[in-house]
Amino acid sequence: MKVISLINMKGGVGKTTLAVNIADCLTRQHQATVLMLDADPQFNATQCLMSPSEYVAHRQAGKDTMLELFDRRRIKASSVHAPADVPPKKLNEIAVVEARRNLFLLPGSLDLYRLEMAPGEGRENRLKAYLSAISGDSNYDFVIIDTPPTPSVWMTSALIASDYYLIPVRPDPLSLTGLDLLKSIVDDRKENYGLAVKCAGVVLTMTRQGTNVLNDAKAYLYGDNYWKDRLLTAEIPSRVKFAEQQLDNIFMLDSDASEMKSSIVKLTNELVVRVS
Ligand SMILES: Nc1ncnc2c1ncn2[C@@H]1O[C@H](COP(=O)(O)OP(=O)(O)OP(=O)(O)O)[C@@H](O)[C@H]1O
Ligand SMILES: [Mg+2]
Repeated sequence: MKVISLINMKGGVGKTTLAVNIADCLTRQHQATVLMLDADPQFNATQCLMSPSEYVAHRQAGKDTMLELFDRRRIKASSVHAPADVPPKKLNEIAVVEARRNLFLLPGSLDLYRLEMAPGEGRENRLKAYLSAISGDSNYDFVIIDTPPTPSVWMTSALIASDYYLIPVRPDPLSLTGLDLLKSIVDDRKENYGLAVKCAGVVLTMTRQGTNVLNDAKAYLYGDNYWKDRLLTAEIPSRVKFAEQQLDNIFMLDSDASEMKSSIVKLTNELVVRVS
C-alpha cells in the first residue's frame, strides 16, 4: 500500500482535481484498488465523487465521515458534538463508501473547520493510526489524501500518514515562489515528527502551451538544483469546459478533450514509477 498526499499551501492549484483523477486513473488504467481520504474541510474531493443528494443521504443516515476519525468525542471541549453516550467506533470499524468500482472514499465534512478550533492532542496522528488499524484487513494498493491549502493539522496528519507527497503547482511567479516555503514547512514537519515522507514530484497544472508564464516556470524549475529532478514531465492543460463539468462527477479520463485524458494517463504513469 502506497500512501500519497496532494499538498500545496497555495489554494486553487488543482490538488483536489488531481487527487480525484489520479485515484480514478489508478483504478481504471492500473487495475488498482484505491482509498481516497478527504482531509480538507472544504470536502471538494467528496463533492467530485458523490452527488449532493448522495452526500445528504449519507449524512442523514449517520454514516461515517472524516469526523469519525478526528472527533473521537472523548473530551467534551475537543468535540463538535455533545459527548457521546456510546464510546467511539474502533478505527477499523469506520466505514468507507465505494464511490466508483474499486475507488473507496472516506467522505469529508465541513465540521472539520469547527473541530480545528478545539483542542485535541494527538489529532495529527489519526490518519496514520487509521491506516495502521485497517492495514491487516484491507487490500488497497494506493491511498490518496486530499489536503487543504493551509499548513494545518489536516496537512500535518496527511504528511504523517504518507509515504509520498505530490505538489501540483500553477505556472505563475507567485505559485512558484511558494514552493520553497512549502519545502521548508514539510522539512519542519519531517524533523518534528521524525517522518521519512518523500516528494514524489511537482506537476504543472492548468497550463497553456506557448505562453511566457509556462516557459518561464519551466526555466525556473529546471534551473533550480532541488526542483529540477522533481518536476514531472506530464502537464495538466487548462480547460474551462472540464472545470464546468467537475461537479457532474466527470473525470479527466472521460473528457472529450484528448489532451486532458492523455495528461492524466501520463501523470499517473509517472507517479506510479516514482513511488514504486
Ligand atoms: N485543468 C484544469 N483546467 C481548468 N480548470 C481547472 C483545471 N483543474 C482544476 N480546475 C479548476 O480550478 C479550480 C481549483 O481546482 P482545485 O479545486 O482542484 O484546486 P485545489 O488546489 O484543490 O483548491 P483548494 O486549495 O481550494 O483546495 C476549480 O474550480 C477547478 O474546477
Ligand atoms: Mg482542494
